[in-house]
Amino acid sequence: MFARSCSRLVASKTAVPLTSYLARTARPYSSASSTYEHILTETPRPGVGLITLNRPKALNALSSPLFKELNDALSKYDEDKDIGAIIITGSEKAFAAGADIKEMAPLTFAQAYNNNFIAPWSHLANAIRTPVIAAVSGYALGGGCELALMCDILYCSTNANFGQPEIKLGTIPGAGGSQRLTRAVGKSKAMELILTGDMFSGKQAGEWGVAAKVVDGGKEQLLEEALKTAEKIAGYSRVAVVAGKEVVNKSQELALREGVEYERRMFHGLFGSQDQKIGMTAFAEKKKPEWSNE
Ligand code: CAA
Repeated sequence: MFARSCSRLVASKTAVPLTSYLARTARPYSSASSTYEHILTETPRPGVGLITLNRPKALNALSSPLFKELNDALSKYDEDKDIGAIIITGSEKAFAAGADIKEMAPLTFAQAYNNNFIAPWSHLANAIRTPVIAAVSGYALGGGCELALMCDILYCSTNANFGQPEIKLGTIPGAGGSQRLTRAVGKSKAMELILTGDMFSGKQAGEWGVAAKVVDGGKEQLLEEALKTAEKIAGYSRVAVVAGKEVVNKSQELALREGVEYERRMFHGLFGSQDQKIGMTAFAEKKKPEWSNE
């Protein structure tokens, strides 16, 4: 039940993000937020877990404590059978302005290397099987851009400002930006962006294929689009959705022939699922499928 998923994540109420918006659209499911200090969690729609980065004074700079909470919330939603899609968002002004520069500034090589600094950020890309949508308004810089690129689907507002400005700090991207941005926009453009530190707009993110959708409006409109998509995904068979995510991700790592074979094996495997029978029988009988998620 959603109540169960909410109560697992929610202990006491703190600030309610998007209060008026959620009050209007999501009262039955919304239950803000949480034992967390730097993020807010809620379930505003059936099957949808919403995580809001919430360090407004630092423009949601991604400190280690924030990331620990984010990973914890992601894991809890991922384990929750009632959650079929997750959204990560920030504020109107900032999705996230990067890794926390003040935390990083004094680190020595030995501290960074021995503690494998930034490695826990890969939890989202490496371990979370539930689809994750980034809803980006405002700044998504450095690690903020990288976090958005790690998500499975990226929606942004026209006002979004993406960039990898690490070069201006005497360093380089450290959370996959040089790899994921290059795959998204191609080598020459990625090289230009990473070596100049220049920002690019939400509109450009849409034109270059970084964003799946660019929403002309504020945070409310952006979140509404993300919620609609998340709810739609959460309404499908979980087993098929997880398989769909897995095969698309494989396309980033495998050669075409291996990727196509991998997809075919997964496709074959789904004939062993109950939901393949449920889905195809429902189509033939002109009924709405009632997924078993098995
Ligand atoms: N880390 C820590 N604090 C940050 C921060 C960051 N990445 N970004 C912003 N802040 C803090 C500012 O220090 C400021 O705090 P104080 O009020 O205590 O001074 C507060 O957030 C508001 O910021 P500004 O006053 O600078 O706001 P602005 O509207 O004038 O400018 C901005 C906004 C252009 C985003 C500017 O804050 C900025 O350039 N931020 C840094 C962006 C950046 O370089 N990100 C990359 C970080 S490195 C990285 O991410 C490495 C990696 O690959 C993992």
